[in-house]
Amino acid sequence: MKTLEEIGEIREKKRRELELRVNTKLDTREKHILVCHGTGCTSSKSPEILENFRRILKEKNIENVRVIKTGCFGLCAKGPIVIIRPEDTFYAMVKPEDCEEIIEKHIQNGEIVERLLCKDIDGSKVKSLDELNFYKKQKRIALKNCGVINPEDIDEYIAFDGYLALEKVLKEMSPEEVIEVVKASRTSWTWWSRISYRKEMGVN
Ligand code: FES
Repeated sequence: MKTLEEIGEIREKKRRELELRVNTKLDTREKHILVCHGTGCTSSKSPEILENFRRILKEKNIENVRVIKTGCFGLCAKGPIVIIRPEDTFYAMVKPEDCEEIIEKHIQNGEIVERLLCKDIDGSKVKSLDELNFYKKQKRIALKNCGVINPEDIDEYIAFDGYLALEKVLKEMSPEEVIEVVKASRTSWTWWSRISYRKEMGVN
């Protein structure tokens, strides 16, 4: 990757390929099985789950399904977490031995594996992450792509706007404009620090 044009081409091509990660209505025969590889899920055998999915898909000659490792979904106590997109089905506390059933029922027959659906705080079963009360009141900003992309794949990062700010700086802004943005961010940081400091010291 040597030019901004190359980054732009990767973004466009890869984004089309990954549209099913964010568009639950996408009309496609392809599926992505997202397996959380955050610390909690990894310690509860998510690498084994990922390997099992890949092995079973290979044995059964299923070609339109990809298995992807992702970062933490933010619900570690319910891990290992597996999400199937584009439909966004959310399976919790998955064990390596559950992979066979998920492939047979969900992937091959389009049936949800009810017993693996995540339970909400009131005991009701939820089908997707967004239905959980824990998530309903949240708006992820810095971590919005965590759990959506493979953090070890730079092309997936680029597909979801990675390096876009750099591109903007190099193509659209003058050095003076960049300095102004940096200054403005420092100003707000200083302002916020001053307020926190005064609060801590009990000064009005
Ligand atoms: S480590 Fe998997 S949800 Fe946090």
